[in-house]
Amino acid sequence: MPIPTPLITLLVGMVLVLTGIWASQNINLLPIDASSNAPVYDSLFAVLFSIGTILFLGIAGLLVFSLVRFRRRAGDNLDGAAIEGNLPLEILWTAIPAVVVLFIGIYSYDIYERMGGMTALNDHSAMHHQGGAMAEMVSANSSDDSSSQSRIWGGIGPVGGMGAANASAEAVLPVELTAMQFAFIFHYPDANITSGELHVPLGQPVELRMKANDVIHAFWVPQFRLKQDVIPGQPTVLTFTATRAGSYPIVCAELCGPYHGGMRSTVVVHEPDDYDSWLQKNRPATIAMAASATA
Ligand code: CUA
Repeated sequence: MPIPTPLITLLVGMVLVLTGIWASQNINLLPIDASSNAPVYDSLFAVLFSIGTILFLGIAGLLVFSLVRFRRRAGDNLDGAAIEGNLPLEILWTAIPAVVVLFIGIYSYDIYERMGGMTALNDHSAMHHQGGAMAEMVSANSSDDSSSQSRIWGGIGPVGGMGAANASAEAVLPVELTAMQFAFIFHYPDANITSGELHVPLGQPVELRMKANDVIHAFWVPQFRLKQDVIPGQPTVLTFTATRAGSYPIVCAELCGPYHGGMRSTVVVHEPDDYDSWLQKNRPATIAMAASATA
C-alpha cells in the first residue's frame, strides 16, 4: 500500500525544519564574539541561517528529485502534460514567502532595537533629542542652529536600552574617531592620547564619536558584530561594550578610494589593569618625560 502524498510532504517538511534548526545550532560561520552586541546579533543570524537552510535544502532537493523522477525515459518522445494555472498552489507560494519575509522584518527590527539602534544616543550633546535619529530627521526643519550642529545622524546605543544601569555616565569611555583616506585615527579626549589603534578596557562601555575628513568610510569590527558609517559633515556615534580580551581587526567597510582594501586597523581589548598601564605609557606627559630622560 503506497504512503499518501500529504503524509510524505508533512514528513519531508518536518525533517527540513529539524535540519534547519540543527544547522543553525551546530554550524558556526561567524567569527568569535567579543562584544555585548554579538549574542543579540547572533540570535538573529541563527534564525536567518535556519530559514536559509530549510529553503535551500527544500528547493534544491525538489529540483534534484524532479530531475531524476521525471526524466525522459528511453523511447519517450511525447510532449509533457500541458498544465496551466493552479490557484491553491499560487496562493500557497505567495503566502509562505510573505509570512517569512514579514517575520524576518519584524524580528530584525526587534533585534535592532535591542542593540540600541532605536534609542536616543548616549551622547551628551544629543541627549535632549529624545526619540533618536528618526525624530531628529523629522524635526530637522524646525531645529535651530545649535541643535543642528549637534545632531547625530546614526548610531547604536548601549545594549540594554535607555535608562539602563549599565549606561550610567561615569562608566562610558569616550573616544573620538577620525576616518580619512586611508586610515582610522583614534583620540582619547580625557587622556589626550592619539593612536592609530583602538585600545579599550574589557567590560566598559565605549562611545565612539566618529567623523570623516574626506569621503564616507565605515567602521566595522566583525567580532563585535558592529558597523557604522563615518560620514563627512555628519557625526555618527557607535557605543559598544567589549566582552572578550584580545586583538580584533577594524575594517573599513565602505569603498572609499584606491586603497580602501588596505584601510584597516586593530582594536585591542585589554583587561582593565592592562588598559590602565597602556594609558600611562601613552600619555603625552609620560612620553615627554621619557624623551627628556634619554636626551
Ligand atoms: Cu575607508 Cu574604505
